[in-house]
Amino acid sequence: MRIDILTIFPEMFDGPFNHSIIKRAREKGLAEIHLHDIRRYANNKHKRVDDYAYGHGAGMVMMVQPIADVIEKLQSERDYDEVIFLTPDGSLFNQSGANQLSTLSNIILLCGHYKGIDERIREHYITMEISIGDYVLSGGELAAAILTDSIVRLIPGVLGDETSALSDSFQDGILSPPVYTRPADYKGWKVPDILLSGDEKKINNWLLEKALEKTRERRPDMLGE
Ligand code: ADE
Repeated sequence: MRIDILTIFPEMFDGPFNHSIIKRAREKGLAEIHLHDIRRYANNKHKRVDDYAYGHGAGMVMMVQPIADVIEKLQSERDYDEVIFLTPDGSLFNQSGANQLSTLSNIILLCGHYKGIDERIREHYITMEISIGDYVLSGGELAAAILTDSIVRLIPGVLGDETSALSDSFQDGILSPPVYTRPADYKGWKVPDILLSGDEKKINNWLLEKALEKTRERRPDMLGE
């Protein structure tokens, strides 16, 4: 899968994309992530990428030209399945959205800033608008990093154990059960006996029961309650 990220702060991605699972996915060639600095495409002397909003004093708005030029350049090189704008007024992202996006071949992620982007970008290029939650970030970069992380880990072959993504919270529509590792007794805090019993059926029933208990307590909305 190839992900092209359009941003005015490419350095913000150095951390999240150069460690752990995303790093490994890139090294294995399972995910290609390309960062594009929007400012480099600005065709004005001072490399401006924003200007005042017409009609009201809402603040600065990202200009059409630099963004349009990057998108058109990329689209002339290959076909894209989606051109996604990260914005708090987009549709709310969730695990099923991550599953769907992880099956695509090429996507563009556009990170907004200031008061937003010129509406004409949305009208003419954007095919999907996504919010990662009902709160406002100072830009789309962190949202794009979160989206990318949640998608890339689902690409087959990225996680060592193919089943581990399947046991994530949300994949079954419920939260995940508690997990324990050695020692079985730490300062008298014991791992539940059933997990040491070796009885797979009983263990699975217990795990399901615990997962449901947690979901009912924390996220009754997931159970339609
Ligand atoms: N940009 C600013 N806030 C955002 C959010 N909640 N989701 C996606 N992009 C954003």
